[in-house]
Amino acid sequence: MGVSLERGVKLEDELTRIGISLPTNLLSAFDEVISNRGYSSRSEGIRDAIRNYLIDYQLLSQELGDQIAVITMVYDHDQKGLVSTLTDIQHRYSNIINSTIHIHIDPHNCLEVTVVKGDASVIRAFMNNMMVQHGVQHVKIFSISKQRTAR
Ligand code: NI
Repeated sequence: MGVSLERGVKLEDELTRIGISLPTNLLSAFDEVISNRGYSSRSEGIRDAIRNYLIDYQLLSQELGDQIAVITMVYDHDQKGLVSTLTDIQHRYSNIINSTIHIHIDPHNCLEVTVVKGDASVIRAFMNNMMVQHGVQHVKIFSISKQRTAR
């Protein structure tokens, strides 16, 4: 399989060995999934996960113009400074934020669902800002372009 992305980035190339640190529970959850799916090795599962991450990014970067989107985010409430950082980001992007629902999942984790309306590039910047914060575990976006809803 030869997946190639824009700018000539070819994903199938010579192999480079890397070392990464992962929380133990994240790794065991991952191992369980790749074993259920029948992967022959952990490396192969990680390669596929990275390919999917890159494809998600590429699809997202292709969105243009006015969008309405729902962003879901799960984060670690106990991560020092995170709640205030996320609040700062949301204030900075208040012009695109339509509404936010906050659900306290358990004593440590929060789920936030944000409905945003605005230019795709601004929505992307908002999402990226949140995604890269330490303690943010999951960010997903479901986007509807305004053209798609036009009749
Ligand atoms: Ni909460």
